[in-house]
Amino acid sequence: MAQMNTRVLLARRPADHLVAADFEVDTQPLGTISEGQFMIKNLYLSLDAGFRQWMNEGSGDNYLESMPLGEPVQSIIMGTVVESRNPEYPEGSIVMGRTAWEQYSIADGSDLMSIIEPDPAVELHEYLCSLGPSGMTAYFGIMDIGQPKQGDLFVINAAAGGIGCIAGQIAKAEGCSTVGIAGGTEKCQWLQDILGYDQVIDYKSAQPFEQQLQHVAPEGMDIVYDNVGGSMLTTMLGQLAENSRIILCGAVSQYERDGGHEAVGNMWELITKRARAEGFMFSDHVDRYPEAIDYITAMLKAGSLVSPVNWSEGIETSGQAFIDMLAGDNLGKCLIKL
Ligand SMILES: NC(=O)c1ccc[n+]([C@@H]2O[C@H](COP(=O)([O-])OP(=O)(O)OC[C@H]3O[C@@H](n4cnc5c(N)ncnc54)[C@H](OP(=O)(O)O)[C@@H]3O)[C@@H](O)[C@H]2O)c1
Repeated sequence: MAQMNTRVLLARRPADHLVAADFEVDTQPLGTISEGQFMIKNLYLSLDAGFRQWMNEGSGDNYLESMPLGEPVQSIIMGTVVESRNPEYPEGSIVMGRTAWEQYSIADGSDLMSIIEPDPAVELHEYLCSLGPSGMTAYFGIMDIGQPKQGDLFVINAAAGGIGCIAGQIAKAEGCSTVGIAGGTEKCQWLQDILGYDQVIDYKSAQPFEQQLQHVAPEGMDIVYDNVGGSMLTTMLGQLAENSRIILCGAVSQYERDGGHEAVGNMWELITKRARAEGFMFSDHVDRYPEAIDYITAMLKAGSLVSPVNWSEGIETSGQAFIDMLAGDNLGKCLIKL
């Protein structure tokens, strides 16, 4: 009997909030590889909130096309090469790259594909978390744009998520005082108890966000790591210290907005505070990944980095796990184990 491949397709354009019916589980006979290609048996799928943006109609831009309907949902994956007609990716290699929510992927070495040479002292899935895109995003955002100095006040939103967990701990290791922003009392307690944030803000509490921000940063924030955008970013720009740095990493509050991203206010503050706001994509830094991997591996081995994973199991769970992540039901990096 033919080998089958179960995939999760983007069945229709999400209306605003993603729902389970936007996805469809589909099983097909496994395809065959051509010259230059190889077949990956996927071990783990990474759920990355940013992909939500490219599920929208007309969302194609300089970075990615809109995800096509009826095709598997794009995703960063890790897996083992089980068949190869590409000498650079021999059978048995462990690889990571951008393919899709599927049990098997056919790849040709493009789309962020690389071979992983795992350190036996590090758990393999870390190469999709702290040593993968989330860790690279956290590290380069902080080091290149944040440029942390001893005693800086570092404030990050979506602090309990895949990027947030790692970024908060790197900032702390660099001598910053850290503030994590997340939704819910229990989540905020977890940020302090498990991830070691110095202070927290529950943006869903009854106390206005602006007041809480003024309380934790009366002299202003030196570094803002922004994963959320929109009105939260507007409020944060109103509470900057002089010469502050704003790391524009993501805009998760905006991906599900009907009618596109809302305007961000308080831009005048950047001028009077001599602040610098800069966007980036983790993939800009492929050549420097070894620097980040060395830094984060050393933290993992020293036991000074907690790298929490919010696990789901089975390809069929991908859609609901992605929906739950956007709703903030995750503690740490969301991974699907296949
Ligand atoms: N620039 C890059 O290269 C790059 C690479 C990867 C990811 N990113 C960006 O990094 C951010 C985090 O991505 P991730 O994959 O690690 O996801 P994640 O942080 O694990 O999950 C998303 C989190 O965002 C928070 N959130 C959702 N809606 C929100 C809202 N309206 N207001 C405030 N918080 C909200 C939720 O936590 P709460 O409980 O706190 O609400 C949720 O857990 C995203 O913006 C993503 O686009 C950028």
